[in-house]
Amino acid sequence: MGCITDGRAVANILYKSLKRLEYRGYDSAGMATISSGTLYVKKDQGKIDEVNERLNFNDMPGSIGIAHTRWATHGAPSKVNAHPHTDCNNMLAVVHNGVIENFMELKRELLDLNHKFVSKTDTEVIAHLLEENLRKGESFFSAFVNTVKRLSGSYALAVVYVGEPEKILVAKQDMPILIGVGDGGMFVASDAAAFIEETNKAVILQNGEVAIITTKSYEIYRAKDGTRVTRSPIVLNWTVDMAEKQGFPHYTLKEIFEQSITLKSALRLQDAYVDLLTEFLDRGEKIFLLAAGTSYHACLAASYMFSKLARLTTYPVIASEFVDNYGHSIDINTVILAVSQSGETADVLNALEFARLRAATILGITNVVGSTLTRISRAYLLQNAGPEIGVAATKTFTSQLIVLAQLALRLAKKRGKIAQFEMDEFKDRLYEVPDIVSNIIEDVRASVQDLAKKYAKEKFFLFLGRGMSTATAFEGRLKVMELSYIPCIAYSAGESKHGPISIVEKDVPVFFICPKDDTRKAILGNIEEMKARGARIITIGSKDDRELMEISDDYIGMPDVHELLSPIVYVLPFQLLAYYLAVERGLDPDKPRNLAKSVTVL
Ligand code: F6R
Repeated sequence: MGCITDGRAVANILYKSLKRLEYRGYDSAGMATISSGTLYVKKDQGKIDEVNERLNFNDMPGSIGIAHTRWATHGAPSKVNAHPHTDCNNMLAVVHNGVIENFMELKRELLDLNHKFVSKTDTEVIAHLLEENLRKGESFFSAFVNTVKRLSGSYALAVVYVGEPEKILVAKQDMPILIGVGDGGMFVASDAAAFIEETNKAVILQNGEVAIITTKSYEIYRAKDGTRVTRSPIVLNWTVDMAEKQGFPHYTLKEIFEQSITLKSALRLQDAYVDLLTEFLDRGEKIFLLAAGTSYHACLAASYMFSKLARLTTYPVIASEFVDNYGHSIDINTVILAVSQSGETADVLNALEFARLRAATILGITNVVGSTLTRISRAYLLQNAGPEIGVAATKTFTSQLIVLAQLALRLAKKRGKIAQFEMDEFKDRLYEVPDIVSNIIEDVRASVQDLAKKYAKEKFFLFLGRGMSTATAFEGRLKVMELSYIPCIAYSAGESKHGPISIVEKDVPVFFICPKDDTRKAILGNIEEMKARGARIITIGSKDDRELMEISDDYIGMPDVHELLSPIVYVLPFQLLAYYLAVERGLDPDKPRNLAKSVTVL
């Protein structure tokens, strides 16, 4: 958040705006203002109100300032890691959302130039790089543009500088940022919720753009060649509540739509940590993938990826079953990769504590830096999905999958069990996923909404898939069941003839997941078995699979995607279906009954 006024103190405006952004992250908060040639900075770990109680933001002087509420990606939540970050001489302050991928390299360069770093964040390099460019005598804007050009990764940035205290500079790449155009003041924020009570006129910045914001004007430029961009504000007829959800009626839908962005963020892993986890996994004798609920489904999919790409056998296991089932065979040669978006699930932590006491190696994948899982893991990877407010896991599931896929690829390279061309092909397809996801959500939304209308009164659903799609079937079942309260079962389709088929009779709706992979032929057989018993067949399959389309009562066509990545794409119609079924049935999709976002009881 940033604000510049024609004389009014900004501290209170920034504080109120920051409160409205708290839903985006809340592990630490901070503010920087400029008054009479001095930069004032206050920041600390904790929620905004807690930090304010300790530090009192409101007495910060000045009519220009920036503020931030953090959701850690690099460096645990702490006072030094909180934003804003400053340069060596406290002349400028930076707030940043996103991930700077080349921060290690930039940091080394700046350390050689005697810059003093105080935090463990990637953001701090931006402050020092800007300082370095200013030292060369460049103007604030030109130093800023030259700084931005050196960054790779994602960023929404806002910066203030004592030397030119009448402007806020901003930049955008793959993270949202908007300028709010008010009377007597201008705003900048990562979403309109921050300033909607002050103004409903907003200018949305695009990737690769930088902007200069003063009390009365804004100028936008393309960073790479300095071309001026003209863009008028749009008028947002949003309430604060609508703005927090970016115009979506519920967080769950907003989070489903956010997935192309969160997948891109999850592709920005720090290489050194991926290598570390790979090293530990490769050394293990017995390897367990441990999780609960949706995260367990990500582990199921991962076991197929590890096996097919890296020829590594792993055991996906439900956390609450782990101790009873495998506890007695755990030893120093056991490696456990725990997957938990919250990093706080009691079943997971309980199993890990048991294993830790038996000298097993604990690794983690989580969305929350500073969570217990990050503290007890030997090494961990972050999902970078941002906070998920909807109780049902959506964007955190797909980001777990893409993190696991990268790990599987690195393991494949290390173990050298598959051909280079296969690895290259997988890598190419992996990087296509965010764009595929962005298109498919838009493409299938309307037809899934129709399906939800059609099937909203059903008493029961069956979900079937094979291979990788077993994980999709399980996750589709969980999503639909927990949001719509319609009882559902899911099986690996090969198992359907061993029992579940007995409940199939006329008009029972059965969902089949049938991408164009090695499982297709067998699935076609399973569809015929169910059809013969009168079931209604609803298929999620490849867009151009005419044969499948013809034997299905309802059909959702999907783009082609690498077999091992199919759950990331094929789960999307189920997330949407779960959401729309809940809406059709008059339920709150954000808060399904009896469930909590983080299950901290055994
Ligand atoms: C389902 C859901 C839960 C969680 C489970 C594990 O939509 O949200 O099943 O997946 O409670 O949570 P984490 O990943 O935080 O360990």
